This record gives sequence, C-alpha cells and structure tokens, in this order.
Amino acid sequence: MKFTINPIFLFTFFLAVSFVSCKDEENQEDAHQHPHPHEESEHTHTHYKAQDSILSHKILYPSKVPDRIIANLPEDPSTMLAVNWRTNQQITNSYVEVALATDGPEFRLGDIERKRATTEVFENQHLKHIEPLVKANYHSATIHNLKPSTTYVYRVGSEAENSDLLWSEWFQYTTASDKQGEEFSFIYFGDAQNDLKSMWSRVIRSSYKKFPSVDFMLHAGDLINDHDSNIQWGEWFYAGSFIHATTPSIMTPGNHEYKDTTLTSLWRPQFNLPKNGPKGLTDISETTYAVDYQDLKLISIDCINFERKPENREAQVKWLDSILKNNTKKWTALTMHFPLYTPAQKREDNAVLIEHLKPLIDKYKVDLVLQGHDHTYARGQISNKESGVTSMSDAGTIYAVSVSGPKMYESTDKKWIERRGEFTQLFQIITIKDNKLSYEAYTPIGNLYDAFDLIKNGDKKTLKNRIPDNPIRLKKDFVKE
Ligand SMILES: [Fe+2]
Repeated sequence: MKFTINPIFLFTFFLAVSFVSCKDEENQEDAHQHPHPHEESEHTHTHYKAQDSILSHKILYPSKVPDRIIANLPEDPSTMLAVNWRTNQQITNSYVEVALATDGPEFRLGDIERKRATTEVFENQHLKHIEPLVKANYHSATIHNLKPSTTYVYRVGSEAENSDLLWSEWFQYTTASDKQGEEFSFIYFGDAQNDLKSMWSRVIRSSYKKFPSVDFMLHAGDLINDHDSNIQWGEWFYAGSFIHATTPSIMTPGNHEYKDTTLTSLWRPQFNLPKNGPKGLTDISETTYAVDYQDLKLISIDCINFERKPENREAQVKWLDSILKNNTKKWTALTMHFPLYTPAQKREDNAVLIEHLKPLIDKYKVDLVLQGHDHTYARGQISNKESGVTSMSDAGTIYAVSVSGPKMYESTDKKWIERRGEFTQLFQIITIKDNKLSYEAYTPIGNLYDAFDLIKNGDKKTLKNRIPDNPIRLKKDFVKE
C-alpha cells in the first residue's frame, strides 16, 4: 500500500505542536528560549521536553487570564464575598467587580463596584513528582456591605484596553439570608485526595447537578495527596471548575495538606478563609476558624496542628470553648479531618482528639461532627457506643466520616455506627430549616445511601433515621482478593 502525506496536514501538525509547546513566559526554568514567529511581538517561551507529553499546561501554568477562581465563605456570608484567583506574574494589578444581578445584560450599564485585589507573588516547585517551577501571582479580594439574600454577579481580572480578554466570565453569587428560620443547605465532601481530574470530578459535578441551588460546600480535608503539588491542586480546581467560583466553599486541612507541621504554601495564597481563629497563632490562621451561616455555627479545627503541637492544641481548645460558650446559633457543626472515633479497619480512635474535644462537644451539645481521613463511610452517635441502641428522643452528637475520592479502605462494624459503607464515593447534602436538620448521603449516580433528620424541640433533639432499604456496600462484594 502506498502512503502519501498531505502537505497541508503536515503544516497543520507542526503548527499545532509548536502552539501546544508554547508556555507562559513566566516559567522559563531549565529551558531553552527562542523567538516565536506566530506572535505579534517577539517573546521567548519554554519547552519542558520531559513533561511535554504528560503535563496539561492549562492545569499547571497560569496565564494573564484568571484561573483557579474560588469564592470562600466569609465570616459574614450575608454581606460579604471573598474570592481568590491566580494569574501569571505579568498581572500585578488585578480587580474584582461586583454588581447586582439583572435579568439581562443591563447590570453592565449600572453601578459596578470595583475593588483592587491584594496580590502576592508566589513560586513553588513540587520536587517529589519532579514538577517544574511554577511562578504565579495570587490575588485576593473581599467585598463588604452586600445585601443579604441577594443575587450578585462578579468577575475578576485586569484591564485590557476596554476588552474582556483579561477578565473571567461574570459569575452569579447569592448572599446568605440574615433572617432566622430560613432554609439553606450545604454539601459535605470527605477526602477527594487522589485522581482528582479523573475520578473526583464526577462527584463534585454530580453533587452540583443534583443540588444546583446549594448554598455552600464543605471539604473535610485531604483535598489533594501531596501538599505542594501544583498539578494536584490544578486538578482539584479543574474538577470543580466554575462551581468553585459560584458556590462558596470552606475547607479544613488534612494530613495531606501538611508535611509534618508545615501547611502547604498554596493554602493561604489560593484560599480566602476567615482569619478569626485563636489570636496570634499564625500557623493556624485560615485553618482554625468559625463561620456563621444563618442558623448554623460552623467551626473548622486544624486537627493536624492540634495533634502534633501541644501548645497549639491548648490554644485551640481555649478558643473553641469560648466560641461555643458564646454561641447563639440554633445549630452547631464542627469539621476536622481526623475522626475522633475511627470506623476504619487497622486504625485506632484518636485519643488526643477524644480527650480534648469530646468534653466540649458534649458540654455544648454540638449537633454534627463532619470528618474524613478514613476513606470509608460511617455515621452514628457516640452516645450509643456501649449499648448500640439508638436513643430516638434525645439524640446526642452525630459523627460522620465520609469519602468523595476513589481511594478506599475497609471498615469495622462498631456499635456506635448506624450506617456504614465501603468502596463508595459519596457526597452529603445537609439542609437546615428552623428546628429541622436533614442529612442525606448520595452516591455520584444519585442513589441515596444514608439519611436522617434531627428535630429540635426545646432542649431535646429527636433523631429520625431514614436509612434506605438498599444493602450495605462492602469492598469484598466488588473486589475479589
Ligand atoms: Fe487523611
């Protein structure tokens, strides 16, 4: 058989290869440079030959156009918007613009508030997986004085001679209500951690598809596997895409966000979390904090520092005690990465957390403790630890452990556990309306796996289990040893 090569195809192929190889000029390390004929002005660019075939440049490298845009829950979600994003280092002035959302494009003709971001020059290189040096500017902005229960549009970016080229799209963002008793909901994810683009993307996207009006999302640690891997963080942002910019989120750090007692250097530049934790402790700034969302007090405990640094533990306990003592919210939830009581096989309950946190959880009648780390699912009440009997009329604190990524461990059937599951990627939607809290755990294809309601009546709290009829999922039923 005779092969002929079409010269147009050959030209197109070489053009495509040359274009794909062109990376941002900020990232020039270990590379040769040469003029580039397809640009208007001559510039140099970089070729990482070793990684060209395996790295997604968009996931790793910033450009002049904002990426990794994320809205975080501010201290007061009824009046504030907190947003962070990334560009290359050529963008030194970046802005957020906010306007009241309108039915049509007329918001662009009205009052648009513009605020300049705080910009941080940032470089990091993850050497464990031989990632290249990534140079970026991270931008952070907080808008105050918004109206409660109001839908806004916002975008981030910088001037480009009156064009939209260097701006993000306009995202729609709704502030929380400032009234008691109104319904709201949030999605709680356990560890995403591995195969973020390949396998976790399905979970966050299906959660959003099922509950597009959800008010915020909560990530209970180990969002990634290697604390300073720019590729993994890039995949985490890729998986959530515009959801991260549209639905505000909060996150508590896991052990994989840490190396020993050092938090990933990306955490604070890329997130805009409340800085209202224990005063003077910079190592837990934006990792231990509290948020009020309508009738809920939601508290993140940095359990990595808590476990590994006794002086830090003392400060967090004191701070948590004062937060809970002064708490006026009807509902209270704690989130931390390590579970106090482990459902995982071959793992022990966390004695440090139990000793120091359980007394406060009991004393102040915390409603929910939302955790990760064990790569399995379990939900129950520790008040049932001995008897295994559900106290329906005076429910204690509900403890949950969940997992959203594909890494899976097996669990042990313990008396406190009401529902357990292995080898199942899950997300939980928690809805609060006045005296009622509803919790539902779903698989990515929308199957309900666990559910319960808590109903408050004065000092009492009733638990109503709504565990679906479908059988418990165990690894042995899916993986033959
Ligand atoms: Fe973990």
